[in-house]
Amino acid sequence: QREKWCGHEFLYKFQGFWFTKTYLEATKKVLETFKPLPGDVILASFPKTGTTWLKAILHSIIHPSPRHENHPLTLNHPHQLIRSLETNLYIEKWTELGGTGSTKTPEFPAVKDPKKARILATHLPYQILGDILSFSDCKIVYVTRNPKDTLVSLWHFVQKSSSAEKDPWEVEAAVDQFCRGVVPFGPYYDHVLAYWEQSLNRPGNVHFLTYEELKENPKFHVRKLGEFLRCPFDQSEDGEEKIEEIVKMCSFESLSSQQVNKSNELPGVFPLPYSSFFRKGEVGDHKNYLEDKMIAKIDGITRKKFSRQ
Ligand code: A3P
Repeated sequence: QREKWCGHEFLYKFQGFWFTKTYLEATKKVLETFKPLPGDVILASFPKTGTTWLKAILHSIIHPSPRHENHPLTLNHPHQLIRSLETNLYIEKWTELGGTGSTKTPEFPAVKDPKKARILATHLPYQILGDILSFSDCKIVYVTRNPKDTLVSLWHFVQKSSSAEKDPWEVEAAVDQFCRGVVPFGPYYDHVLAYWEQSLNRPGNVHFLTYEELKENPKFHVRKLGEFLRCPFDQSEDGEEKIEEIVKMCSFESLSSQQVNKSNELPGVFPLPYSSFFRKGEVGDHKNYLEDKMIAKIDGITRKKFSRQ
C-alpha cells in the first residue's frame, strides 16, 4: 500500500507504519542485522520531537567532558555524535556503496570502551523494533512532544527540502496526513503509545519523557536521565554544577549558535543541512501556523487516542 506524500514522493505502509522508499529498505536491513548489545542505550523518538536535543544530552551524560572550546558539542553536530540506526548506519553506507542494491552488511559503531554505553538513535516504532529490543537488556529513552508542535516542526522541515520546492506540502494536507498517520514513521499516536506502554511495563529499561517537561525543568530531567542510565549525578554542589553545565551546553541557544550546527553540509543522502535541525525550539509554536479548526481536529484525535480506557 502506498500514498503520495509531498514533493512527488510516495510513502509505503509496512507493518502498520509509513516509510519513504529508502527508509523502508533501511528498516528491513535493520530488522535483518541489528543486534543490541547489553548496555546499549537507544534513543527512540518520532521525528521532530526533540531527537537532536536528546542526542546532545545523552552524549553529555554518558561521555562527560568539561566545557571548553574543544567540547564534542562545539566540534560535532549531535547527529554526528550519535548515529541513527536507519538513517546514518544504513543510508550513508548504502550511498557509499553506490545505492540500495548492496548486500554488504552495514557497520554499527564498535564498542571502544566497554565501560561506556554505545548510544544509538532510531525513529522506528516499538511495534517494529520491539522483538529485537525486548530480548535485550538495553536502555531505551523515548522522547515525545505535543502532536501539534511536532506536526508544525515537521511541516517546516519538509518545506525546506528541495523536493518540496517543486510541490509544496500545504498545511491543510499536512494536518490531514498527520491525522491519518500518513507521515514518515507515522502514525504518531501508535508510535507514542507503544513506547509509553513499555515504560509502564519495564520502567528499568524504558524511560519516557516529553519535550515540554524537559523544557520546563531541564535540570530535574537531566538528573533523572542520569539515574536511569546508571550515570548518576551526586547531590553535592559539584553534581548540581555538572547538571547545569549540561543543560546550558545543550540548550537551543547554545547548540544553534555552534558553527558546526549552522553548517550547510548535507548529512548522508538526507536532502537537508545540519542547520535545519534547529529552527525555533519553543513550546506552542503551532498557534502561529494552525487554524482553530485544525487545532480542534488534532485535539479531538489526541483526546481519543490518549484517553485511558
Ligand atoms: P522546532 O521546529 O519546533 O523549532 P528533532 O531533533 O527530533 O528533529 O526535532 C527538531 C525540533 O527540536 C525542532 O523544533 C528544533 O528546533 C528543536 N530543537 C533542536 N535542538 C533543540 C534544543 N537544544 N532545545 C530545544 N529544542 C531543540
